[in-house]
Amino acid sequence: MKTNAEPKQASPTDCIEDYAEACTDDIPELLNELTGETRRLTGNGHWSVGKVEGKLLQMLVKISGAANVVEIGTFTGYSALMIAEALPAGGRLITCEANPEYADIASSYFQRSPAGGKIQLALGPALETLHRLADAAFDFVFIDADKPSYSEYYAEALRLLRAGGIIFVDNVLWRGKIFKAKITNENARAIADFNEMVRRDPRVEKVFLNIRDGCYLIRKK
Ligand SMILES: C[S@@+](CC[C@H](N)C(=O)[O-])C[C@H]1O[C@@H](n2cnc3c(N)ncnc32)[C@H](O)[C@@H]1O
Repeated sequence: MKTNAEPKQASPTDCIEDYAEACTDDIPELLNELTGETRRLTGNGHWSVGKVEGKLLQMLVKISGAANVVEIGTFTGYSALMIAEALPAGGRLITCEANPEYADIASSYFQRSPAGGKIQLALGPALETLHRLADAAFDFVFIDADKPSYSEYYAEALRLLRAGGIIFVDNVLWRGKIFKAKITNENARAIADFNEMVRRDPRVEKVFLNIRDGCYLIRKK
């Protein structure tokens, strides 16, 4: 007979996540240190993209040959460091963060990374930063900040990208809350509307990836 005292069984999803991590290249020790410090200092360790999605981002930047990248949502800098490591010499990443405490942690790790010199951290509301950037000057945009603004970030990303440029968007499954018959959660509503807008947008090619919390991979035509 099962009792509450029995240890929780690992779900197939947990096993798949662990297996995917084990079959993916190792990350630099600095990122493991950042992961530990992010958990300790913020309690929001799960906000970082983590090893598998981070390595995917890195791979996409390399394969696409992106040199000029914008990230919306730095947090403590895990994904920014992943992206920066993939940039060619002379490449740059502009990463946007509104919270000064998270930005401070990120900056301290950027200073310790060999790729840190390629990163410019823009402190303040992301839309204000994006509005200051030039049209068609970027190759790649990563969207990973406040969900109700995703549609505005997408419009700005399309303006900032050259033809053939890539948009990569995180959390487009919102832990499955987008599938509820009646969506009451504000973030889930924003994500569901965003996904539908992208799905119907003839200006882009797209593939929806059920990796982690869902990623939308989009190419501007
Ligand atoms: C999910 S976290 C980003 C995680 C990061 N990409 C990583 O993988 O390490 C989202 C971040 O967006 C930031 N953020 C939320 N609203 C913002 C806004 N309007 N402008 C800039 N940053 C914002 C939050 O403070 C938070 O640090």
